[in-house]
Parts: sequence; structure tokens; C-alpha cells
Amino acid sequence: MSNTIDSWPRSRIKGTGSYVPARVVTNDDLAKFVDTSDEWIRKRVGIRERRYAAEGETSSDMAAEAARRALAAAQMNPEDLDMIIVGTITGDMPLPACAVFIQRKLGCREIPAFDVAAACAGFIFALSTGDSFIRSGAARNVLVIGVETLTRITNFDDRNTCVLFGDGAGAAILSCVENADDGLLLSTNISTDGTQSDMLQIPAGGSKEPLTHEGLDARRNKVFMNGQEVFKVAVRRLTSASQACMQLAGLTPEQIDWVVPHQANLRILNQIAARLGIPYERFVLNIENRGNTSSASVPIALNEAILDGRIKRGNTVLMCALGGGISWGSALVRI
Ligand code: ACO
Repeated sequence: MSNTIDSWPRSRIKGTGSYVPARVVTNDDLAKFVDTSDEWIRKRVGIRERRYAAEGETSSDMAAEAARRALAAAQMNPEDLDMIIVGTITGDMPLPACAVFIQRKLGCREIPAFDVAAACAGFIFALSTGDSFIRSGAARNVLVIGVETLTRITNFDDRNTCVLFGDGAGAAILSCVENADDGLLLSTNISTDGTQSDMLQIPAGGSKEPLTHEGLDARRNKVFMNGQEVFKVAVRRLTSASQACMQLAGLTPEQIDWVVPHQANLRILNQIAARLGIPYERFVLNIENRGNTSSASVPIALNEAILDGRIKRGNTVLMCALGGGISWGSALVRI
């Protein structure tokens, strides 16, 4: 499904913000209790360290802080918001949605606040959904968030996955524009292939397999991933979704100033750069010190690159992400 460029009103990203917890966990820290090494993780994935949420720190705590920073960047107040959409698979609790707690913490009006569950693609799905509400005229200002406390659903007995994940939140204020003078969300493209749902799962804790003592002992309430299969799908789908977004906006790879990809594995990103024909130097990378923060990874990287001056006003930025589902998506934006 795609949002294209043909009608007004449209949306733009008016401000971004991010938050990562203070606790740094290095590869050497992990190697003290996991059969792994700093060398393996850096070579095979590209991570040196990641951040872990403090005890008692929740997804909505991190998301609310990222949202406050995004609102400040957009020079807006919580009461200006018409909607909150949160990409997450690690909300504060199964019911209600994480967005509900964020609304309360920010002190917003009575507005729709809901979650989108598309795993690592959650922020792109939320962004595309917010864009659709703005294009329909139903909303003027939408707070879009990607947040995860992945360390709470990580199986620390599984070295294939536990070295990958970190915690954090990123937010963007999507606002209505009536002409193209300011920034613009140029196109989005999101999709899912449910036949591949067994590649990346938390098997227990839902209606299919309610939690039992045996399930808890077997860590079936934690992330399971077939890494090699996800790797292949990620290269293929992230390339095709990015190409679709460029085609919809009538842009070529030469016109892309920055790519802000999901930070899952440097080897995946290297292959995507080659297939897209976009120099690797134009990829915003923070996997080295953030790890894989699932739906938070794109908005954190976007915000950090804006704050350090790499991404400037007027730049054209391509975002892409893929996760459990398998669900994937891409968004092209002029900042
Ligand atoms: N430390 C040391 N050795 C390890 C580790 C580790 N942490 N993990 C695996 N190994 C070993 C394996 O046991 C295997 O050993 P063997 O050859 O003796 O059997 C060897 O390393 C190679 O294992 P592979 O699984 O082939 O490793 P690979 O190079 O595929 O890397 C990884 C694994 C990093 C998971 C990679 O497959 C990957 O990045 N996949 C994609 C992940 C992704 O994109 N996820 C997307 C979303 S995540 C989400 O939605 C929450």
C-alpha cells in the first residue's frame, strides 16, 4: 500500500525527538554471562554497545520524553496534538495501548491514541497511518512514535538474539501543510507477508498459547528469530520498498541525500546500499552504540542525524524498516 503525491493537504515532519536510557551495556559486559565475544558481535552485526532501560523504566516513560523533545523542536504543545500513534511490540502492559499512557503523561486533550504492531517496521507503519489521517483532513497534527523496551522480551539464554537488542524511543510530529514550500512527506510504502510469520515471533502470551509455567520456563514469552532467513528477506524487501518510494515520488537514487534505515545489521545495510546504488556514506548509522531498538531505531537515528547537523532542512531522506510479520515499509521525506 502506498501514499503518493497527488493531492492536498499533505503532511511534513515538523519536529523530531529521541530518548535512550542512561545504562550502557558493552559487548564485553554481555560476554561475562553469554557465550559470545566483542569480536563476533562487531564483525557479524556491527554493534559495540547498546542501552538498557533502568529497572521500573517503561516504554511510555521513554516515549513521553522523546515526544516532549519532538514537541519542543516543533515549537508545539501537547494540546496541539490531534492524534497519537505508537509503533511498539513492548507496550507498558497488554491492555491498554502504550499510547494511552503517553497521552496521560503528556497531558493531551481527549484524542485518539493507539498502537500499531508491526515490529521493527512499527514507526514506518505509524508514520504512513498518520499521513493518511492528515491527507483525509481528519487530523492536522499527529504525534508518531517508535518505542521499545526489547530487553524485557529478550531471551538471554539465546546468544543468536540477546546480543542484538537495545531500548529507546524516537518521535516525530507530523503536521498538515497546504503547499510544498516547507518540508513534505513525499511517499510511503508499507506491506506484510503473513506466510513468513514463523521467522520472527514471541510464541506464547497470546490467545494461541496463553502463558503457562512450562511456557515461561521454556522462554516462549521471549523473542525467537530465524536470523539467517530474516537477513535474506530484509535485503530483498528493504530494497524493493525503498525503490517503490522513490518511484512514487519520481526521484532517483542520486537525489537521495540520506538513507535512515532500521539498524539491524551493518551487513544487511551494505547489501541494500549496493542494490539501491546509493553510496554507503549516505546511510545514517548508529547501530554501533544503539544496537537494534526495533521500531525505535529509525526515529532515533533520524533525530540524532538532525541534531548533529548531518540532515539539514531541505534534505531528501529515505527511511526503511523490516520486522516480524514479516512486515516492512519505506518512507521518503523532504525535511
Ligand atoms: N556470539 C558468538 N557466536 C554466535 C553468536 C554470538 N552472539 N550468535 C550466533 N553465533 C554462532 C552460531 O552459533 C554459528 O555457529 P556455528 O557455525 O558453529 O553453528 C555462527 O555464529 C554463525 O551463525 P549464523 O546464525 O549463521 O550468524 P549470522 O551471520 O547469520 O548472524 C544474525 C546472525 C546477526 C542474527 C544475522 O542473521 C542477522 O542480522 N539477521 C537479521 C536480523 C534482522 O534483520 N532482524 C530484523 C528485525 S528484529 C525484530 O523485529 C525484533
